[in-house]
Order: sequence, then C-alpha cells, then structure tokens
Amino acid sequence: MSSLALTRRAARTDVGARWESRLIRAAHPVVARVVDVAVARRPVVRMPGVGLLVADPVAARRVLSDTEHFAKQGPGSSGALWTPVLGDRVLLNMDGDEHARLRRLLADLFSPRVVDEVCREAADPIIARAGERLRSGEALDVVQLARDVSAAVIAVVVGLSADTDPAALVRASDDIESMVTWRTRALDADDVDRARRALAVVQDAAEAAHREARGDTVMGRLALQGVSLDDGRSVAAALFLTGVGTVNSALPRIIGQLADSGLLERGPATSTDVDAVVAEGLRMTTPSLVTLRRCARPTELHGIRLRQDERVVVLLWWATRLEGGFDPGRRTPAELRHLWFGAGSHFCLGAPLALAQLRAMTAMVLEVAAERGLVIARRRAARRVLVPRYAELSLGAGAGG
Ligand code: HEM
Repeated sequence: MSSLALTRRAARTDVGARWESRLIRAAHPVVARVVDVAVARRPVVRMPGVGLLVADPVAARRVLSDTEHFAKQGPGSSGALWTPVLGDRVLLNMDGDEHARLRRLLADLFSPRVVDEVCREAADPIIARAGERLRSGEALDVVQLARDVSAAVIAVVVGLSADTDPAALVRASDDIESMVTWRTRALDADDVDRARRALAVVQDAAEAAHREARGDTVMGRLALQGVSLDDGRSVAAALFLTGVGTVNSALPRIIGQLADSGLLERGPATSTDVDAVVAEGLRMTTPSLVTLRRCARPTELHGIRLRQDERVVVLLWWATRLEGGFDPGRRTPAELRHLWFGAGSHFCLGAPLALAQLRAMTAMVLEVAAERGLVIARRRAARRVLVPRYAELSLGAGAGG
C-alpha cells in the first residue's frame, strides 16, 4: 500500500475508533470518562464506591475463569441484580454443578449446525427483504434490521408462539435495560415489578412450547427434563435478555466500523472475509461493555490484594482495545481471543447464534456494497443506555450507486 493510502486508512480507522468512544460516552457520560482516566494509568485499579476495575485482558480472563475466587452470585454481582426479577436458576446467576448441568441441557440448541438452521428459517427472509430495499436505492436503518432479526431468531430458539409481536419483544428488552446503571447494586421493588411485567410478554409467549414439550426449542427441552413451567419461564426471559440487546448493539457498530474504514465502497465482495470482519468487529465493539463478579475468597490480582466480597468490575470493552482501530486483516492476539464473549464457565452460551446472525446481516451489507457502494446516510448515538449502541445508523447508496 502506498504511504498516501496508508495515511488515508489510518485517518479512517481513527474515525471508527472515535465513534466507538462516542457511543460509550453517550451511553455512560460520567462513568466512561472516569473509567478512561482511571485505567489509562493502571489497567487494574481500585475505585472507591465502584469496586476493583479490571481492564487488563489477562487479568480479566483470570477473573472470569477462576470460579474458586470469583463468583457470579452474592452481593454486588450481576447475578444478585437479576435474581429478584428472573429467579435463581437462570444460568447467569448460577455457579457449580447445577450451572454446568443446565448449560449441558441447552448446549446443543446453540450448536453451529442448529443455529444455522434457525437463522435460515427466521433471519434470512428478513435479511433478503432488507437487501432488496438497499439494492433498489432505499435507505436502510441497520439498527431496525438488527432488532427485527434478533427478535425473530430468539423467538424460534426459545419457542415463542408465532403470533408474538417482535416489536413488543424488543420494547421489553429496552424497558428492562433502562432500569440498570453502573451504580445499580439492586433493583428496588417498583423496578422489579416493572421488569417482571415487561418480561411477561416473552414468558407468556413461551408457555405453549413448554406444554408441547418438543426437543427443538429451549422451552420444550426444559419441559422434557422435568423443569417446571415457572423455571422455564425464567430461563426464557434470561435468554431473551442476554440475546437481544447485545446483537442489536453489535451489528450497527460493526457496519459503522466497515463504513469508517472505507470497506463499504464499491469493490469485489470476494476480497472480504466475513468471519474476520465479524470477529474484528466484535473485538472493536465488545457490546457487553462490563461484567461483574464478587470476590468469593481473598486473593491477589495483578499485584492487588482483594478482600472477600469485594466487587470486581471486568471492563471487557477496555480490555479489548488495540492500537490501529478496526482491522479485519489482523491476527487477534491470543489473550484477547473471544474475550468479547467472556471466558470460562459462563462463556456466552449464545455465541454461535450471535455469530450466525451477525455473519448473515454483515454478508448482505457487504454484497450490496460490492455491487453499488454504500455510505452512512445518518447516524445517532443512543443516550444513557446500558448497552452502548446507535439509536439509528442508516445506509444509503454511495457516490457510484
Ligand atoms: C454479540 C452478541 C453477544 C455478546 C457480545 C455476548 C456476550 C456475552 C458475555 C460477555 C457473556 C459472559 C458474561 C459473564 O461472564 O459475566 C455472555 C453470557 C451469556 N450469553 Fe451472550 N452475548 C451475545 C449474544 C448472545 C445471544 C444471541 C444469546 C442467546 C440467547 C446469549 C446468551 C448468553 C447466555 C445465556 C449467557 C450466560 C451464560 C452462563 O452464565 O452460563 N448471548 N454473553
């Protein structure tokens, strides 16, 4: 590449990196700045009132993988936040054998083969329609596309009845997300009540699949194993909460990175490796910005002594930063690999499902871009949300389209 081309590319990746920071700050205006300053000096540092901040990838992986010293349950953990809403047996607030058993029971519903089938059934028709619109020159808001696809896909996996309104599902996810901030250690009684009412949309729609007890839906699989309807409703809600907001955040941010790097200009689609784009896009965006643990036993991390019950704030987004911004051609350093999906026993159960959806949507955008070139017509960061995201990112025809 010529030095001019390299300079141009560097300037563009800067734009992408700046947009990422802007999204984080729009979502968490005060905390993001404070955290930026704190971890710029030391990647593992104690912040009074918040907990031990961990932005170093090796230390982050250790916290997530070392279940002897770091737990998902108990005061200050994310499990504690969700238990009053979801019940106490929903994967993300479980540890130990019971947790491993429930994961095993559901694992093959999330295997790459099964999720490819689900995506063909639920996502491909929506994505094909969106592609037609883009090809015909209409603008396409990829925020809306991701919302439609993620709701349709999760509905099939969980086993929600076909007449469930996808928009109502995504609204429920937004409502619940809006109740939690970085400082939230427990939801108050009114919030618990509101969250439960919002989730009832999902849970009611899942009841029929529990009754039918077929092995190809989460609800059916749970029923066949004798898991009660109440516990099944809880798992349905948990999968929905974990699986919708993250994908909705990721897709438009990945497309934003592609556009900012000049990769949506007209050109041969075959030169772009979609898997590499999605992996690097997920590293760059790391939608689960932060996850929490409680120190279960005193230990040392990165030279710092931790007390029992201390709160540990694993800063996944900060831990996955690399020099040079978005670069699908790079080899991800081993210590970062898949860290955006967590690590250890709570590693994202839905990762294959997320990847399949993101791959299908990104491939469509890249194909249309190769044919006619695409540009960002409008974009807007969402303000004060838990999972940083665009409120809108609309694509339109590029100069040559
Ligand atoms: C780009 C999209 C996604 C990202 C970045 C993501 C990220 C993560 C991360 C970081 C964790 C671990 C949290 C921790 O250890 O505290 C996690 C757990 C989990 N994710 Fe995902 N996720 C995504 C999509 C999905 C989807 C589509 C589903 C499907 C339902 C899903 C279901 C889950 C579940 C059930 C857990 C809890 C697993 C356990 O505790 O054993 N995720 N995810």
